Amino acid sequence: MAVGVGVIGAGTVGGGVIELLLGNTDQIADNTGAGVVLKHVADLNTAALADYDLTGVTVSNDAMKLIEDPEVQVVCELIGGEQPAKKFILAAMAAGKHVVTANKMLLAKAGPELTAAAVAAGVELRFEAAVGGTIPIIKAIRESLSANHIHAVYGILNGTCNYILTRMQEEELEFSDVLQQAIDMGFAETPPDLDIEGHDTAHKCQILASLCYNTQVDLEQVYVEGITKIRLLDVEYADELGYDIKLLATTRKIDGEIEARVTPTLVPQEHLLASVRREFNAVYVESDFADSTFYYGRGAGKKPTASAVLSDIADIARAQGAAVQPPFRYTHQLDVRAIGLHRGRYYMRLTTQDHPGVLGKVCSTLGRHGISIASCFQHEESDNNPAHIVIMSHYALESSVVAAVEEIDRETFITEPTNVVRVLD
Ligand code: HSE
Repeated sequence: MAVGVGVIGAGTVGGGVIELLLGNTDQIADNTGAGVVLKHVADLNTAALADYDLTGVTVSNDAMKLIEDPEVQVVCELIGGEQPAKKFILAAMAAGKHVVTANKMLLAKAGPELTAAAVAAGVELRFEAAVGGTIPIIKAIRESLSANHIHAVYGILNGTCNYILTRMQEEELEFSDVLQQAIDMGFAETPPDLDIEGHDTAHKCQILASLCYNTQVDLEQVYVEGITKIRLLDVEYADELGYDIKLLATTRKIDGEIEARVTPTLVPQEHLLASVRREFNAVYVESDFADSTFYYGRGAGKKPTASAVLSDIADIARAQGAAVQPPFRYTHQLDVRAIGLHRGRYYMRLTTQDHPGVLGKVCSTLGRHGISIASCFQHEESDNNPAHIVIMSHYALESSVVAAVEEIDRETFITEPTNVVRVLD
């Protein structure tokens, strides 16, 4: 029997899901043996639905009517944001409906509450589209890699940031030159600070960390740095050193704790992640038996995201009558490691007056904090320009780097705060 689908929110993603449900149901049935049929669409602006042939489909401007519709067994929440999305999801689950959502912010903030509600109601809450758009990374972690211990996940999970960083590198543009064009691409959140300050990536990082390690991760414990401090200079110096700068979500298990952080990161140019250009997303997973696996695709956009939503709906339709899976399994209680305990290599760009003794002072401060220098260079600048000293460290403790840089930045010869970027290890 075909499963009836209701779509709340007919914006970009919702519109794509409606198109896919109207156009490709035969393909879905052919590929999966599961029948799915669009039964109800709810949007505050029903006039926006005039573009679709919704013959036989109930249209309303009231999501609660859709949730109560007996012909709807799967509710797609595609309005995003915290409220009223959460209210609709909880109401749908309480009414015994399975839910599919792309709402990364809500999952990251209310995962335990939503999981408890799904388990209590005995329904599925699926969210393949919430992380990496069309990339099947949730399925990969929950299913394909389910026999593995996952050691580490590195994700480029924000198309807006990756687009900005790629264009800065390829066209020698400053961050501010390309920001508006990135927003015009149509992938940015409202407001775009969620993208460029790293919070959208943090939501996705929190979801991946919870899934990979079956533990509750408080979003506040995910360390977040965005890309607003990255200047063309840093992109060019990184390139000279053989690296690309990417905004990475990293989650790893270390000594019984997990790391969950979002940071601009120097990625070696020969690494697969460095090949991810423009608005594309990718996830690199290291696990004990599968070893390294890599997942790539479009992280946003109408059709790719709709494709991911439909994969969840098809899975629910295929599994009718089978035991339902909880969205998250909080079977462990792992602490999130403080960022200060991170050990890695660091790129540091110092902006200084060009005086005798500056480099000596900087090196001795780094040395006192136990930070060993792997390489260091300064290009000749014309008169009146500050000098940039670029330092790559050997492995060092984050708290030591922070303390050393704070001390260096108090020196009168420093004319701008030092820019520190972590290196992928
Ligand atoms: N704002 C996000 C991005 C949309 O730029 O990738 C997809 O989650």
